[in-house]
Amino acid sequence: MKEFKGKVAVVTGAASGIGLALTEKCIAEGMHVVMADIEQAALEAAAEKLRSGGSNSILAVKTDVSIASEIEKLKDQTIQEFGAVHLLFNNAGVGGGGNTWMSTKKDWDWVLGVNLWSVIYGLQTFVPQMISQDTECHVVNTASVAGLLGGTTNGCYSVSKHGVVALTESFYADLQTEGAKVGTSVLCPGFVNTRIFESGRNRPADLTDDIAPPAMTPEQEARVEMFKKILEQGMQPAEIADIVFEAIRNDQLYILSHEAFGPMIEARARNITTGNNPTEVNLFAE
Ligand code: NAI
Repeated sequence: MKEFKGKVAVVTGAASGIGLALTEKCIAEGMHVVMADIEQAALEAAAEKLRSGGSNSILAVKTDVSIASEIEKLKDQTIQEFGAVHLLFNNAGVGGGGNTWMSTKKDWDWVLGVNLWSVIYGLQTFVPQMISQDTECHVVNTASVAGLLGGTTNGCYSVSKHGVVALTESFYADLQTEGAKVGTSVLCPGFVNTRIFESGRNRPADLTDDIAPPAMTPEQEARVEMFKKILEQGMQPAEIADIVFEAIRNDQLYILSHEAFGPMIEARARNITTGNNPTEVNLFAE
């Protein structure tokens, strides 16, 4: 997809961080944008701010992306308002998880629901619409560099993001087979300065455990603090949005933002093909 002006974009997780930056980039490219997010107040505030900046073709739709019927409603409202959809960002996501066997069913359901099922629902719902339009379209699924690495000590998140990478690769192959005028990319960023660390703000009560998780050890606390600091010093969301649009123009499947992770991705691939066990993955060595 090379032409954006006057076209319609849908962005999930649009109220904050990377999703908000993608929304701003869409507006700068002259697109109509449907902003979807679970956090109503933040969504409305962001949409209002963008509208007051002169962009009035913005529709904000409160959406829980982990629920199929809400994605269906998002598509219906998009078509009702703008008549088509050309660019879909399956971007909403939450950080979460920890030790693989201590993570609870609710931990897994929450993270897989928001990070992986949402992308599956997004494809099921929007792709038939895009194909029926018979115009140039593109879908960007946000994974993470955690979807390309192993052993990042964050089981739920890692599984969800590896799932998004695998899903997008299969989707790419399906589009080729069908000869569809739809392209796709999977975004695998490293550290970006967003509110991902405060993901718990949107965790639904029915997916929250009654029993509080065990207290963190001093080592775990130190690790969390370091992680927060590294995120604060991470790339700005607007830089990611620029990289993403460049990749869409080039019809590029894999979008990586932080070169420093390249050797780690290669090391994992080498370990797999040579039968060597992984050494500890140190994300903070970047
Ligand atoms: P963020 O927390 O700033 O933004 C995420 C947005 O998703 C928020 O507005 C939140 O309200 C929304 N959201 C959460 N649950 C939702 C639900 N059930 N339905 C609809 N919206 C929901 O975080 P960020 O970093 O902008 O996250 C965007 C994506 O980028 C996520 O998929 C995340 O996993 C991915 N990512 C982020 C990285 C980082 O360093 N910040 C690195 C790699 C990937």
